[in-house]
Amino acid sequence: MRAIHRLATPADAKRLFEIRRTSILGLAPSGMSVEAVELWATSLTLIGMKRKLRDLEIWVAEHDGTTAGWGAIRGDTLEGLYTAPECAGRGVGAGLLAMLEDQMRKRGVAAVCAEASSNALNFYLRRGYRANGPQTPEGAWPIVKQL
Ligand SMILES: CC(C)(COP(=O)(O)OP(=O)(O)OC[C@H]1O[C@@H](n2cnc3c(N)ncnc32)[C@H](O)[C@@H]1OP(=O)(O)O)[C@@H](O)C(=O)NCCC(=O)NCCS
Repeated sequence: MRAIHRLATPADAKRLFEIRRTSILGLAPSGMSVEAVELWATSLTLIGMKRKLRDLEIWVAEHDGTTAGWGAIRGDTLEGLYTAPECAGRGVGAGLLAMLEDQMRKRGVAAVCAEASSNALNFYLRRGYRANGPQTPEGAWPIVKQL
């Protein structure tokens, strides 16, 4: 899928909130318990999404005028990556990740850090990330990639 990338605006809040919720509920159960998935999916409110739009640099991937996914960065950290479940497995997540890494590389970031959920760990490992410490109490895996 050939997506266009653009910076998110406050008007995107509702759609990005929905993509996050449905991507977790639809895609994360492949690698996590139902309880953990539900806890994660409901851990953010629409108000929290609006706060993220203020505090983070958020990019969206659009295809045919529809928002297909989004990713967020702050400094040297990847703060989130979500693909709408109906667009999954078509390169949206990989395309966003490569673009976000490119943004950081251009700004002189030497290594990007993230916390991968269990379902997404292999997705990152196949893209040059390596484990960077033990699993967190919340069940995420700290990972790092040299840029
Ligand atoms: C992790 C996540 C963002 C991946 O998004 P995605 O858009 O489905 O990812 P992609 O389509 O780019 O890659 C998935 C697979 O599809 C394959 N693929 C299929 N068609 C493709 C295409 N046209 N171009 C590129 N890759 C393609 C990729 O090779 C990849 O397989 P691989 O990891 O074995 O290489 C998505 O599963 C998601 O939102 N999960 C729920 C939330 C989550 O876990 N987020 C991460 C938090 S740390």
